[in-house]
Amino acid sequence: MLILGIETSCDETAAAVVRDGSRVLSSVIASQILLHRKTGGIVPEVAAREHVSKIIPVISAALKKAKISFQAIDAIAVTAGPGLNSSLLTGVTTANTFFAFTQKPLIPVNHIFAHIRANWLERNSASFQYPIITLTASGGHNELVLLKNAKSKPKLLGETLDDAAGEAFDKVARLLGLNYPGGPEIEKIAKNSKASEVLPRAWLLPKDISKNWDSAEVGERLRNEKLKLRNFDFSFSGLKSEVRRRVKSQKLKKSELVNLAAGFQESVIDVLATKTLLAARQFRAKEIHLAGGVSANSALRNRFQEYSTGLGVKFRHPVKFEFCTDNAAMIAAAGFWLLKNSKQKFDKFVKANPNLEI
Ligand code: KG4
Ligand code: ZN
Repeated sequence: MLILGIETSCDETAAAVVRDGSRVLSSVIASQILLHRKTGGIVPEVAAREHVSKIIPVISAALKKAKISFQAIDAIAVTAGPGLNSSLLTGVTTANTFFAFTQKPLIPVNHIFAHIRANWLERNSASFQYPIITLTASGGHNELVLLKNAKSKPKLLGETLDDAAGEAFDKVARLLGLNYPGGPEIEKIAKNSKASEVLPRAWLLPKDISKNWDSAEVGERLRNEKLKLRNFDFSFSGLKSEVRRRVKSQKLKKSELVNLAAGFQESVIDVLATKTLLAARQFRAKEIHLAGGVSANSALRNRFQEYSTGLGVKFRHPVKFEFCTDNAAMIAAAGFWLLKNSKQKFDKFVKANPNLEI
């Protein structure tokens, strides 16, 4: 089955043709990174205008690259949310227009669940073992999700209470005078750090457990003492504020900024990896999956690999870097599995929903 995926939830205009939810025949992405670098972040109106001008050329390029005519497409999958409303509308309106004229099945896709499906791309998912714990960490989202089996609905275990991990990377990079997007920039300079700063971690534990613990030691105790968590939520805004306090309180030398960046990255990795490990242990997961833009980070991947090996579970991240950040191949993959696993007919117009929940 051939699915055309369309993605415009944030600042990437993307289209892809994917066979049977796995084989990527084409994946075209028009990135707006350079445009948003000027403002150090996304201005929704600017992003929306760019989507409008790029969407049709991007879809045409995806069909051409896949050497597929539009008639050969079996169904269309489009991101319905969550995301920026003005960005989502371009993809949704385009997909609705195709549906109106062709009556091909039209599948609304949840962007976060699509990030999870990025791990299905270019892989034989028949070998996947459940339960699977997935962490999606991107610029807009930070979700820990349990997949009990191949057909069960994803269960949300925890999410961020404030900033997503990628958003924190972007904001901290700005404080440190680095380019947008901040994740790759911080990763690059953190590699040169000799003595990373120890920064706080928001474990969000009940006060009676954590009151006498030093923040950086908590992770180790959580991992070693096999404590159970009731709360898999995340918070990164306190960490960001601490970086801001240190940057504003004194003039930092270049090497101190590098160490601060490394300390920030270490703190984010510690919390993300530890909470994922604890969830995997608690729910007896057989696999741990990492997805979303932040999953491109090698230090994060290395830590996930280390903890997964320690726990004896399989660790997977998307097979290509371009499947970590926003792309339409993952939208087509998510659409394929929805079509396969559900009894719905997918014969309705799609509505954009910026607050769509998983
Ligand atoms: O998944 P994505 O493309 O868009 C959203 O759905 O938000 O993720 C973009 C985010 C940005 O915040 C970016 O800084 C972060 O992913 N990111 C990284 C890395 N590459 C991208 N964060 C940390 N390390 C990286 N190497
Ligand atoms: Zn995304």
